[in-house]
Amino acid sequence: MKNLTALSLKTRQGELYVLDQTLLPQQQKWLPCQTVNDMVVMIKALQLRGAPAIGIGACLLLAYRASVGDSREQLLRDAEVLRAARPTAVNLMNNLDSMIAALQQADFKTAAIDCAGQLFAQDVQLCLNMARHGAALVQDGEQLLTHCNTGGLATAGVGTALGVVNLAHQQGKNIRLWVDETRPLLQGGRLTAWECQQLGIAYQLICDNMAAMLMARGQVDRIFVGSDRIAANGDFANKVGTYSLAVLAHYHKVPFYVVAPHTTVDLACADGSAIPIEQRHADEVRGVSGSFGKTIWAPEDAAVFNPAFDVTPAALVTGWVLDTGVYSQADIAAGVLMQFA
Ligand code: MRU
Repeated sequence: MKNLTALSLKTRQGELYVLDQTLLPQQQKWLPCQTVNDMVVMIKALQLRGAPAIGIGACLLLAYRASVGDSREQLLRDAEVLRAARPTAVNLMNNLDSMIAALQQADFKTAAIDCAGQLFAQDVQLCLNMARHGAALVQDGEQLLTHCNTGGLATAGVGTALGVVNLAHQQGKNIRLWVDETRPLLQGGRLTAWECQQLGIAYQLICDNMAAMLMARGQVDRIFVGSDRIAANGDFANKVGTYSLAVLAHYHKVPFYVVAPHTTVDLACADGSAIPIEQRHADEVRGVSGSFGKTIWAPEDAAVFNPAFDVTPAALVTGWVLDTGVYSQADIAAGVLMQFA
């Protein structure tokens, strides 16, 4: 396998390393990832996270296992274990399906390594295409808002929604970005803020519940978010809190865009109600943890509801920014997503 480098994934001399995103931004620690169990643990713990990144990471791990001599049967079993690591992001399932097809070939080892490399390269290109389509929507001087982390950490490339913001910035548009901190796991406060600093994007961090006030004051011109799965009717799942933003945007007439590669479209889901939503550990809501340790501020046994994602109905979306173009509600209603069957 040739050496591949993304912000949160890299291969060196055939071995795979994952940047531990739970420790960012205070620590940058690369973890070797050698077994399927290593990868499953990292995905579940969100050391590796973001829909495209977990799909690519799982495939790179299978390629590594093929390179060290695992049998086809073992690799196929491992693909099923990886598929179950997180339920909502369909990129994981779609990418593993490509790997399973590669594993059917006579020279399955070479095919698996090539397939993982191609999926990585494809994601880099998909990100560039989304960024180009999305940045064309952004006007000079606009104030943008985003949720969660959708940048280089979450993909093999420049990101989805944050890739759009970054390209607009690189084009010299004088933009400013409001970054939702994104409770409970603070992907905005920890990861997007860190990426913005690396990229030189002017940003201000806000608690999630401040977005309404900013919109009411006319201080948000456009919202870009990512997605973990887009249903056939355009409903989509993304980090919990996205739906509230969409409702607020609708009320305040702020254009609201979802940015995702076509590998996030799942035509097997007719609408958002069919998208499985991951429930996570109660302690994530009872308190917080990171490189600084773990703090619980709620009563230790406080009852908790902790869905990792919510579903935004298509009716609240201004545009779907995919790698193939920007689609309106009319396009989606006319079945444009069917091209990805
Ligand atoms: O739980 P996470 O951090 O993996 O959630 C990530 C998101 O919700 C992103 O918006 C989504 O994966 C798209 S990232 C390019």
